Amino acid sequence: MTNNFVKNKQKLFDRWAPSYDWLFPSVIYQAIHQRLLEYVNLPPKSNVLDMGCGTGRLLNRLAAQFPDLRGTGLDLSPQMLRIARYNNCHHPRLIYIQGQADSLPFAEAQFDAVFSTISFLHYLEPERVIGEVARVLKQDGRFYLVDITCPKYVEPYLQILHKTSNSTSIRLYSPESRQELGNSAHLQWVADYSLLGPVLLSVFSK
Ligand SMILES: C[S@@+](CC[C@H](N)C(=O)[O-])C[C@H]1O[C@@H](n2cnc3c(N)ncnc32)[C@H](O)[C@@H]1O
Repeated sequence: MTNNFVKNKQKLFDRWAPSYDWLFPSVIYQAIHQRLLEYVNLPPKSNVLDMGCGTGRLLNRLAAQFPDLRGTGLDLSPQMLRIARYNNCHHPRLIYIQGQADSLPFAEAQFDAVFSTISFLHYLEPERVIGEVARVLKQDGRFYLVDITCPKYVEPYLQILHKTSNSTSIRLYSPESRQELGNSAHLQWVADYSLLGPVLLSVFSK
């Protein structure tokens, strides 16, 4: 089932990639990236990871705001990555690689920060993914988790919908569940910030 789920997600995003930056949701995503930047704190010469980077818009923004930053974008979809590489305004500071969030192809303690914007909701095994985030973060590194949130009482109903191999299925997390996920990977919750409507930024520290 895991394989089918991931294959279906890849197909969905490969199909979406050519129009991704031109459709209405992208306007929302870019407004979210802009708001997120208000809360980002990075040490000099940071090395950052954007997990589920899509077309690379967030990394381009980060590289413009932090001129000495180096960044890696990781995504499941080759077509999303093709566009991210084409749009890369900061090569070789920014690079893009294909991979899966639940088995990150990086050694331990590589990154000062890991970003995840509107991607975490697509993961079938969230505990594994957050464990991987904790593994690749340096000590005191930050995890910036941005996703649509939901009240705690709604979560069980949404989980039932998620347990299909359907590529469109997503899973939403309440603020409380995000903190529990962080705890499970020994990440300290730092703060939550509302970015846009139901889109919540949760910041964690290793
Ligand atoms: C809605 S897009 C968000 C892209 C980008 N973060 C943004 O803010 O515009 C979700 C992205 O997550 C990627 N994705 C989904 N499941 C993944 C997985 N298991 N591992 C890595 N990337 C994944 C998709 O390919 C897609 O590019």
